[in-house]
Amino acid sequence: MQTVLTYLNENQSRFIRQLSDYLRFPSVSAQSHHRADLEKAAGWLVEHCQAIGLNARLSPTEGNPVVLAQTPRRASASSRGRRHFLVYGHYDVQPAEPFDLWKSPPFEPRIEGRSLFARGACDNKGQHFAHLKAVEAYLKTNTELPCDLTFVIEGEEEVGSGNLAAFLKKNRADLCCDAIVISDTGIPDLKHPALTYALRGIAAFEVKVHGPSRDLHSGIYGGSVDNPAMALCQVLARLRDKNGRIAIPGFYDDVVPLSANERKQLARIPHNDAAYRKSLGVPKLFGERGYTALEQRTARPTLEINGLTSGYQGEGSKTIIPAWASVKLTFRLVPNQTPQRIHKLVDEHLKKLCPPTVRLTLEGGHGGEPYLVSPSGPLAQAALRALKSAFECQPILLREGGSIPILTDFRKILAADALLLGLALPDDNVHSPNEKFSLDAFNKGMRMGAMLWRELATAA
Ligand code: BES
Ligand code: MN
Repeated sequence: MQTVLTYLNENQSRFIRQLSDYLRFPSVSAQSHHRADLEKAAGWLVEHCQAIGLNARLSPTEGNPVVLAQTPRRASASSRGRRHFLVYGHYDVQPAEPFDLWKSPPFEPRIEGRSLFARGACDNKGQHFAHLKAVEAYLKTNTELPCDLTFVIEGEEEVGSGNLAAFLKKNRADLCCDAIVISDTGIPDLKHPALTYALRGIAAFEVKVHGPSRDLHSGIYGGSVDNPAMALCQVLARLRDKNGRIAIPGFYDDVVPLSANERKQLARIPHNDAAYRKSLGVPKLFGERGYTALEQRTARPTLEINGLTSGYQGEGSKTIIPAWASVKLTFRLVPNQTPQRIHKLVDEHLKKLCPPTVRLTLEGGHGGEPYLVSPSGPLAQAALRALKSAFECQPILLREGGSIPILTDFRKILAADALLLGLALPDDNVHSPNEKFSLDAFNKGMRMGAMLWRELATAA
């Protein structure tokens, strides 16, 4: 193990250069004009995996290809019965807009202090790169890995992983494993490494309100024709009440309440409302009454407007009644809510709220179920031991608010649970301008990756 850790220490600056090369690809899955960049990023990653000694190939899907990379398998009888783990990550990134808020261009990686700035630096290229480097250290120092590993790095996570379930089904035999290791979540700080045992699910929609057949002069027609933007805002305003609760009948029916014990555990996580408020630049925190900020953003369901569009947005004014208005909405879901049932409830309720003066259409986008796993199993305990030795701190158990839609498919298709061992810090600006990855988190992540396989391979 010492040889592996020494290798990791001695090659840090090369690792940072290589990660920077990876970050230069603008692999934005939401934007079709970046399709070729996704292909290039995936191709680069395959070559990189081969260079570090993995058997790697690109596996096509209906959408962006999956990078599949395996540690060399030994044919000897003694290797039979070895444990097999997947490492999951994603090479696609969120759009970098608005560009003008970046201190340096999002796809030109820059180091400042102990941080590497670029879109995707943390979410998720840097995090799965740490695992690749840990495995490189084993392979390049001829240290035997105590288990078999397969990296599955996909290109559609940020748009809902629509083609990954089919990929898992098709490759089920090869991907059959004991658990899936994922570093794509957060930690409160480097002194509190964490095993995340729950993530929220998601249900995404686009609602469009249609008014007149074209934009109309608001002076000539205003007063006699409804305004779709106003109608949409009125509908939206009725979806949340003054206590921060979602006002859709049946919405909370399937929500499993937080147990007293869980609330006690959550309260132990370092958090300060005032500092949190300040770091986000809001005048006052908001949230569902009766819950702490931490509970609100990890263990309670929410509704967010992600984008709202209508009418004239250019310079100056334009006096019109717009022909249409639209909104992108996402609900975050908690156990046992399902995107399917939420879709049905939202559809019924919006139809009821829509006034007869406009027409409303609802398009269901991607969805993902919430995830919850017991942190007391032997593999989870082994992961906690690896966290403790790599970070030299007592790890904590976390629930988190973000979503990784494929987790429940891993469970259904491969019958394996996830070990969520994130490296993202609260100020890493994931999905925001000036995303960064902490070089200290990178180092600790590589050490954790190195120590993890021994713990997982031998866990009782
Ligand atoms: N890494 C995040 C998920 C995450 C972030 C989990 C922070 C826990 C804490 C992932 O890349 C992500 O952003 N997922 C999307 C999924 C969506 C586009 C379907 C999300 O949560 O918005
Ligand atoms: Mn993300």
